[in-house]
Amino acid sequence: MSDRGVLKVDKGYFETKDDVVRDMLKTGFWPTTHISLTSPELPVHWHDGDIIGYVMSGSTYILDGDSNKIQLEAGDRLVIPEGALHAEGEVTETVTYIVTLGRCEPYMNALRMLDPETYPTPDMLALDPELVTKLMSSVA
Ligand SMILES: [Fe+2]
Repeated sequence: MSDRGVLKVDKGYFETKDDVVRDMLKTGFWPTTHISLTSPELPVHWHDGDIIGYVMSGSTYILDGDSNKIQLEAGDRLVIPEGALHAEGEVTETVTYIVTLGRCEPYMNALRMLDPETYPTPDMLALDPELVTKLMSSVA
């Protein structure tokens, strides 16, 4: 997946479910669905795997790694590479997604939210060798 570690929203990427299926054939990702009921804005986190979501209905927003608020609505594709810091926004109406995963694994494992304060992203570790040393000494 390109743009490793950076969340991307492709506005107006698709029109129909068939468009999404065609895109899944290109990505090779594993599909499932997610229906988001009303919920508060989530804390900043990242996931240990690549996720691509397609907003089928409803609207909400997402915060990227720089806390930029990006509106999401039906037809938008959301690309969340492994390690990309983000926070799903408050949901005030039901939002339905087709969620696709880069590898076949239990859905709740794939969506596990990793707190960057506790679990630095791969990019954070690559940029800060001292952090790696600190973490290694804390588990020794
Ligand atoms: Fe997330």
